[in-house]
Amino acid sequence: MARILTGIQSTGTPHLGNILGAILPAISLANDPANDSYLFIANMHSLTQIKDAELLKDNTYAVAATWMACGLDVSRSVFYRQSDVPEVTELAWYLQCMFPYSRLGLAHSFKDKSDRLEDVNAGLFGYPMLMAADILLYDAEKVPVGKDQMQHLEMTRDVASRFNHKFGETLVLPEALTRESTMYVPGTNGGKMSKSQGNTINIFDDANTLKKVINKQIITDTTPLEDSKDPDSAVVYNLYKLVASQDDAQKMAEALRAGGYGWGHAKKALLEALVDGFASERTRFNELMANREEIDSALSNGADRARNVASEVLSRVRSKIGY
Ligand code: TRP
Repeated sequence: MARILTGIQSTGTPHLGNILGAILPAISLANDPANDSYLFIANMHSLTQIKDAELLKDNTYAVAATWMACGLDVSRSVFYRQSDVPEVTELAWYLQCMFPYSRLGLAHSFKDKSDRLEDVNAGLFGYPMLMAADILLYDAEKVPVGKDQMQHLEMTRDVASRFNHKFGETLVLPEALTRESTMYVPGTNGGKMSKSQGNTINIFDDANTLKKVINKQIITDTTPLEDSKDPDSAVVYNLYKLVASQDDAQKMAEALRAGGYGWGHAKKALLEALVDGFASERTRFNELMANREEIDSALSNGADRARNVASEVLSRVRSKIGY
């Protein structure tokens, strides 16, 4: 059994791109009985950007509800809130004391954020050490991450080996688990779907809202209804292909090429595929958001299980550093 661990930023309700590209593949890894899986909501990391208690809390619930509604088996995974295991900040401190200051300043995510954000706080600078602590606190062996997180993972391995070198074998060096093909999910304007681009589709929205987003925001060209159209360059078709059956996608491609099938028809088909295809997830999401005790109970059960492991690893670390 491999111990797999991943953290999820809580910056808002996950959109279709997050769900197809990251959450569903992560859920199948987590539900696989061959893995011992740890999944947590990185609300302490989100504090580097969000200074609004209600918003931080709501985001945490929305992220938890998304994972649960999309099929995460919470009895099989250790599913918790980062802040429920405060031991992580203690380990983060030890790691910071082992890692060169200059390396943190050179991290691309720090440079990128410090160029872009107004609030360049010290948390943003120390971020990779808190992330390293998230991973090392659980003896995680494999960490599924996107390309943007690879450098953080290298820093995690680096700080763990510095620690081991100074104090003897203590921390497990994790490996990054990158997916061979990451799914490209276009946003409504054709660029990669991303919250910062304002081009997202939220599968938990009701049919009316989805209809407005699809009709008003998905870009199309002005080819007349009767003319032949190229499906592959059309955002609406590229989205449809990701959510409809292969058969239905094939049919839409043929209809577009044949002519006599307009963008309005394609948008209507996409709307139906989203409304129907995610109907049970939407119902479950709304149910969970209306009954947050169910989320709390799943997360607090996860926190108990996580703390058992965390306190063991931390006492190993403490005994090495001279307490
Ligand atoms: N930094 C990650 C992101 O932005 C989230 C994260 C925090 C994480 N701690 C982690 C991911 C530990 C993997 C392992 O997506």
